[in-house]
Amino acid sequence: MKKNIILIGFMGAGKTDVAMGLSKRLGIPVIDTDSMIEKEQGMSISEIFAKKGEPYFRDLETALLKSLSNAEGNVISTGGGMVLRDENVKALKSLGPLVLLSARPEVVMLRLLGKTDRPLLSGKDRQKKIEKLLLERRPIYEKAADLAVDTSDISVDDAVEKIANFLKGRCL
Ligand code: S3P
Repeated sequence: MKKNIILIGFMGAGKTDVAMGLSKRLGIPVIDTDSMIEKEQGMSISEIFAKKGEPYFRDLETALLKSLSNAEGNVISTGGGMVLRDENVKALKSLGPLVLLSARPEVVMLRLLGKTDRPLLSGKDRQKKIEKLLLERRPIYEKAADLAVDTSDISVDDAVEKIANFLKGRCL
């Protein structure tokens, strides 16, 4: 497999779990952009947002993608805001097909219950924040995607199956 398979989508849509499932199923490694940035910076995403701000984090995402321009044969799991920059979408597209994982706002809310590591959702009114961000981002996610899988009512294995079937028809 020359190309990569790239997972995009909102926080709580299941990118991390589906990436691990695909990795097992296809026998290929996972590259998680958030984890790579955390490792490189020696700070958690929350710390980066708090100490350096969101634009700085977005620049790190773009720089990381540049460094991955020769990557082959990986599942690449991206942070939920990675596709907000057109240049990032272009860079991702050159790495392989983009699979959008989505979930309804109430499902996202439940999956992230008790989690404090999403700086964009910290503080009060999390449900409203999720709804607002999803409304803004849905068109961007959908435009970028080559395949869309709603994970709200299906298992990780089922999502993996759908993506594996999609990949069968393509020469990767
Ligand atoms: C973000 C999503 C997070 C992380 C950061 C910003 C976003 O990744 O990159 O907190 O803008 O949606 P996950 O989608 O893996 O939670």
